[in-house]
Amino acid sequence: MHNHRNQAGPLGRRMIDRDQAALSPSYGREYGLVVDRALGSEVWDVDGRRYIDFMAGVAVMNVGHRHPYVLQQVTEQLEKFWHICLSDFYYPQAIELAEKLQSIAPITDSRIYFGNSGTEAVEAALKLAMYQNGRSKFIGFLGSFHGRTLGSLSFTASKTVQRRRYKEGLSVYHVPYPNPYRPIFNGGNSETIGQAVIDYLENQIFQTLVSPDDIAGILLEPIQGEGGYIIPAPGFIKKLRALCDRHEILLIVDEIQSGAGRTGKWWAVDHEDIQPDILCFAKGVGGGFPIGGIIARSELMNWGPGAHGSTFGGNPIAAMAAQATLEVIEKEDLLKQAEESGTYLMDILIEIQSRHHSIDDVRGRGLMIGIEIVADKVTKKQAPALRNDIIEQAFQRGLLLIPCGASSIRFTPPLNIQRDLLDEGTEIFETALSAAEKKHR
Ligand SMILES: Cc1ncc(COP(=O)(O)O)c(C=O)c1O
Repeated sequence: MHNHRNQAGPLGRRMIDRDQAALSPSYGREYGLVVDRALGSEVWDVDGRRYIDFMAGVAVMNVGHRHPYVLQQVTEQLEKFWHICLSDFYYPQAIELAEKLQSIAPITDSRIYFGNSGTEAVEAALKLAMYQNGRSKFIGFLGSFHGRTLGSLSFTASKTVQRRRYKEGLSVYHVPYPNPYRPIFNGGNSETIGQAVIDYLENQIFQTLVSPDDIAGILLEPIQGEGGYIIPAPGFIKKLRALCDRHEILLIVDEIQSGAGRTGKWWAVDHEDIQPDILCFAKGVGGGFPIGGIIARSELMNWGPGAHGSTFGGNPIAAMAAQATLEVIEKEDLLKQAEESGTYLMDILIEIQSRHHSIDDVRGRGLMIGIEIVADKVTKKQAPALRNDIIEQAFQRGLLLIPCGASSIRFTPPLNIQRDLLDEGTEIFETALSAAEKKHR
């Protein structure tokens, strides 16, 4: 925090002091950014400094900050009503949003439940799975992040600090994520890395620790987010779907970070040619307003009144913001733009990689791109201090980046970011990278 204070301007510094005296220190702030306003893919701090936003409020602002159409729809809704409680009454804003989500769902016949956040979406998915099959145990993945409340936290396994001193709420068996760059089980090639995880589940976990008959669901990020922007080994998700079918286990995908067009398709599972049983959404769907929830197969979502609900979930303002956001993604062809800008950004990063010794892997889909910072490309030794310095140097030069995994940086700008900002941002990134490399030589 002391460091953050020094990074900020005079007004920012005063705010950080007041923040420290008033707010919970549990927030793990990245650097001393104190925001005043934002527009499109740019952010200004309280001292008037401008930044290019390559993190989009942690993969939330998919249509950019203050998109005029979202602003207009939200403003109109503010003139009508703000809250009435979807758990007790009906209103068109939530119904229309549910219908829109049904139309873009990767599940043929679906129903929607609304909460307010990612972690609530995961809680709803877990409860629905338990309600459905009467089983109470789950499979999760090492490196995953699913939220911070006690159910979702039982799965979260990206940093021990997030679990320290908390008793697990649910019984979860964690298995390795089939990471092709750093496989825990080295299956030999990228195809067999996925099979090795499936074999571990079938031949070890299900034979020695827990019967598959006791497993309610498997919770998977189709691209691991906080854990390092990792695309699983090819074919893995299809194999996992087959394993779930063999044992009547529900496949729950967490698309909280990877959804809402981020990867160039509505959902990351759209790249995989499978249908999940339950999908968790939040972040980008609300375009910056708090909304999350689940999309589940219709015949699964047959729990009765009172089985689950929420006072604020599906709030009319957030529902209108979400409708407007999804409409903008469609009307402005942002899925295509995410794919094209993703390729453009990835090509620049690969070029930068060729000029620098500390970037090893560059990976991603659409505008969900991660790069791996290493001390040595041969040993792949992780370099978290160097990684953190690159991010700090970028911030000082006017570029917002955030880390993921032990030694990676994520690039998740708004899907409609203009090319000149991508060019300017990547130039700042390379300057920051050179400065940090020099310091760590
Ligand atoms: C994949 C994933 N799941 C769940 C969450 C939790 O979302 P929230 O912070 O809205 O509870 C996040 C947030 O970063 C996430 O990336």
